[in-house]
Amino acid sequence: MTARRLDIANLTVRARGGARAPLVAGIDLSLSSGEVLALVGASGSGKSMTCAGALDVLPPGTWRETGTLLVDGEPCQPKTVRGRKVATILQAPRSAFNPVLTMRRHAEETLKALGFPKPRWDAIIASAMADAGLGEPDRILALHPFEMSGGMLQRMMIALALMSEAPFLFADEPTTDLDLIVQSEILDCLDRLRKERGLGILLVTHDMGVVARLADRVAVMEAGRIVETGGIDRMFHEPAHPVTRRLVDAHLSLYAPDVAP
Ligand SMILES: Nc1ncnc2c1ncn2[C@@H]1O[C@H](COP(=O)(O)OP(=O)(O)OP(=O)(O)O)[C@@H](O)[C@H]1O
Ligand SMILES: [Mg+2]
Repeated sequence: MTARRLDIANLTVRARGGARAPLVAGIDLSLSSGEVLALVGASGSGKSMTCAGALDVLPPGTWRETGTLLVDGEPCQPKTVRGRKVATILQAPRSAFNPVLTMRRHAEETLKALGFPKPRWDAIIASAMADAGLGEPDRILALHPFEMSGGMLQRMMIALALMSEAPFLFADEPTTDLDLIVQSEILDCLDRLRKERGLGILLVTHDMGVVARLADRVAVMEAGRIVETGGIDRMFHEPAHPVTRRLVDAHLSLYAPDVAP
């Protein structure tokens, strides 16, 4: 049966050398299928480290001191969860693709790594590309990264993530490098996937407009800790923590100056 709940429990990440405060300290987060949980906070607050630490794909020089990943309440090794239960999409899709490989090769490498039998590949690729909003799959599969726009590449990254049939998606700033129209299309695409595939999405962003558009719940980070968690309505209308208030006020002063304090 498809997993319905993912928990990150007591995640602490440190940088090697020195007795500095942890980069991420005692994080607890839970994500259900079909929901979008936004992880927000200022630059450097630890959002990306939380995603990387949970999946144990931390950059060199950093390490996970504590932390358990639970799928439907069962503790799991991150390597058994990565790509299979949790797919990932990142900012700057261009850097995630090998410039000399076509999209077909990227798709085939992904399916091979996931161990899907070859006779199923074409059907999985076609379905994932359709769900990611990529029409004309044969034409696109023949293209190299340099022949594609940033928006197409982000859709292809979503398609590659969907090929895993993972029930959860970590999306770290998935729209930051895209123009506003493409941003909006990618957000629509994620919203549709949450509704149609029941994907549970951990959406990392510092854009409260993206949060307002897509999230059901919000977790706010500051200096490596979660300082507030709540439903989207409460977070926008009654933010309790000063960091949340600052994020909401900044958003309102940009997009709704008449109601900003
Ligand atoms: N490779 C690294 N080694 C040591 N410290 C790092 C490394 N990468 C990031 N950090 C530190 O970890 C902390 C959290 O960084 P992280 O990248 O998670 O922030 P973020 O919230 O994702 O920020 P942004 O919104 O800019 O992406 C920061 O203090 C950062 O300087
Ligand atoms: Mg980041």
